[in-house]
Amino acid sequence: MAKTPLRVAVTGAAGQIGYSLLFRIANGDMLGKDQPVILQLLEIADEKAQKALKGVMMEIDDCAFPLLAGMTAHADPMTAFKDADFALLVGARPRGPGMERKDLLEANAQIFTVQGKALDAVASRNVKVLVVGNPANTNAYIAMKSAPSLPAKNFTAMLRLDHNRALSQIAAKTGKPVASIEKLCVWGNHSPTMYADYRFAQIDGASVKDSIGDDAWNRDTFLPTVGKRGGAIIEARGLSSAASAANAAIDHMHDWFLGTNGKWTTMGIPSDGSYGIPEGTMFGFPVTTENGEYTIVQDLPIDEFSQERINLTLKELTEERDGVAHLLA
Ligand code: NAD
Ligand code: LMR
Repeated sequence: MAKTPLRVAVTGAAGQIGYSLLFRIANGDMLGKDQPVILQLLEIADEKAQKALKGVMMEIDDCAFPLLAGMTAHADPMTAFKDADFALLVGARPRGPGMERKDLLEANAQIFTVQGKALDAVASRNVKVLVVGNPANTNAYIAMKSAPSLPAKNFTAMLRLDHNRALSQIAAKTGKPVASIEKLCVWGNHSPTMYADYRFAQIDGASVKDSIGDDAWNRDTFLPTVGKRGGAIIEARGLSSAASAANAAIDHMHDWFLGTNGKWTTMGIPSDGSYGIPEGTMFGFPVTTENGEYTIVQDLPIDEFSQERINLTLKELTEERDGVAHLLA
């Protein structure tokens, strides 16, 4: 028997990321090849944006996706999020050359208070929320705080692009396939302070750290490359990453919903106090997922270098949180 369709709300649906994301959701890449979906698409009320959204929807129609059980366009989050089982909050202003993601804080924070309140009011009580719009961790924190009747654990931020970038760099360095790399993680904020950590990573049971051997590569090449990759793409493309961001959003939701079979991945989630990260801080952690729930990988040793890096990214997140406190008062 066919499964009941699940409702997937996507904001910023006519934007760059939306254009890569929606087709893949409708194709079953996110929730499974046997899971029908209903797309509930939100754009700003602006005539041009709504017209562009209609155009994207015409193209989605033209794909005749067998799993697409319905699709609606919205300019109001209160209707877009109605009964949503999943919400991908992409819509926000992207940064341009020379900006840091936190420069977007003022411009974008307002969006996430409004949308958090709307989710609180009308979404499924089990809604799984992924914030992609930057600065993703703090926006996710704002949405979570604006939705007090929903479980805090339902709000997450996207660190998966950083995780995937780190995987790809390690694959290139070791000459091994991406799929063979396990136990990698990225701690902290989706910003250049993030700490991509391969101390525990393994390829076919062998330590990645030992096989690379060279701590200087970690410090001087790997961490800056992964941390500044978003900026490097903006520099090269003149636009921020879009297809790879959409791909990471698909990966994040797929693994949250369908499980990682014991494998590690990275999710930005509200801390439960693990590793000394204050409760509620939206922080990238190593997790495994099963039955629609994530669990932080516990008891990993944190050496002095790692603690310094974790402190640095936590400090930035604390500053960002303090910077938006007035919006949550
Ligand atoms: P874009 O400008 O192409 O598209 C954004 C879309 O959002 C636009 O169509 C805009 O009209 C819409 N929008 C703006 N405010 C909205 C609102 N309140 N409600 C609904 N829609 C709204 O930008 P993009 O390239 O698609 O990027 C979107 C966001 O994702 C940016 O903030 C970008 O920095 C971020 N991003 C995050 C990651 C990550 O890893 N977390 C990766 C890439 C991009
Ligand atoms: C990325 O990491 O590619 C995105 O967050 C876009 C950006 O501003 O870097």
